[in-house]
Amino acid sequence: MRRFPEGFVWGAATAAYQIEGAVAEDGRAPSIWDGFGPIQGGDTADVACDHYHRYTEDVGHLADLGVGAYRFSVSWPRVLPDGKPEPRGVDFYSRLVDLLLERGITPAVTLYHWDLPRALEEQGGWLNRDTAYRFAEYARVVADALGDRVSTWITLNEPWCAAYLGYGSGEHAPGRTGGGFAAAHHLGLAHGLAAPLLPGDVGVTLNPHVVWGGDEAAVRRADMIANGVFEGPLLRGAYPEELFAATAHLTDWSFVRDGDTKVINAPLDFLGVNYYSVTVVEPGGKGKPSWPGCEDLRFSSAPGERTDMGWTIAPEGLTELLVRLARENPGLPLVVTENGAAYPEPVHDARRVAYLHGHLGAVLDAVEAGADVRGYYVWSLLDNFEWTFGFGKRFGVIHVDYATRERTWKDSARWYRSVVAAGALPS
Ligand code: FCB
Repeated sequence: MRRFPEGFVWGAATAAYQIEGAVAEDGRAPSIWDGFGPIQGGDTADVACDHYHRYTEDVGHLADLGVGAYRFSVSWPRVLPDGKPEPRGVDFYSRLVDLLLERGITPAVTLYHWDLPRALEEQGGWLNRDTAYRFAEYARVVADALGDRVSTWITLNEPWCAAYLGYGSGEHAPGRTGGGFAAAHHLGLAHGLAAPLLPGDVGVTLNPHVVWGGDEAAVRRADMIANGVFEGPLLRGAYPEELFAATAHLTDWSFVRDGDTKVINAPLDFLGVNYYSVTVVEPGGKGKPSWPGCEDLRFSSAPGERTDMGWTIAPEGLTELLVRLARENPGLPLVVTENGAAYPEPVHDARRVAYLHGHLGAVLDAVEAGADVRGYYVWSLLDNFEWTFGFGKRFGVIHVDYATRERTWKDSARWYRSVVAAGALPS
């Protein structure tokens, strides 16, 4: 058995839009994902896992798993449906938090897991600087409602996706193109304005890319675009110096105002890290719409076995990532806020068990190399609405039958429960 450090937090993660359903109940307003298409299979998240009505059962599953923490997100359009700072749907989260605490589970609340109110998108969404200030108002409302009981906060989930997929390539809602950097900046500003308003431990969750490749210049540029654009202002208070010249053909960065990066660099209590796979880059390609400033590079997957998403299984990338982040940010605790794999098997999901085993081993390797990793949240508690893939990709350790919404434990849930109970990984 390989033991995890004393006090290591074991968790499971979800996101509001992917599990809740009830999109038109209790006054919830539309978000940019409602009706965004095309979604594979014609699926919608209108009901999703029906968690909004089944949260009691779901908290029961968390308790049975034995996890110490549950990472979920609050839906902005549910809480502030008319954009006025008078909360409406926050009661649902208040009840959820109470129930979690009753069962001895620490709530870890994400404020933005991609479900921007459509009304704000109509005013420019993340291309509009004002959205950052609206986000801070929303954060204050949630902090007022839950801050007496919640002390772990994540402002944003994966601003890389929200900015580069939502406003760069247009693959994600709201499906706009060419605005990746402005969206990234305003998301950072939103984080920086909101962070000081939250009581307790505050973090932000990134999906830092582990970039592999033989050409140093290509790797450095891809790393700057994927990681430096976010980690620079958030963790160091400045954009990478080479960034402006490297992207001058795309933007003049005039949306960055004096003092912004200082705001974005608000003190953090931990950094959330989501990890699934690595990216391979070489010179001499046609780029990828989600990688602005990398038009002359070629992106591919690493060789090797892949999950149902087509993502190469590379646990060593997680070790590399955690060790790098620890080295670059001494004193900043790291938390793996998402890790997991999509596989179709309904119950006997040996491949998911192997994936989780490999990646938890990778976390231990990083800890042994000196990285201060404080916790791990499996993605995901439940099979859920996987964005543009709809219900076609299953990440849950618990299976959801989308006809009946029945939950069934997969072998990975049983396996995870035993690891959590032991606080150690079988060797
Ligand atoms: C991450 C998202 C999460 C889920 C997983 C598979 O990028 O944060 O909502 O979709 O990927």
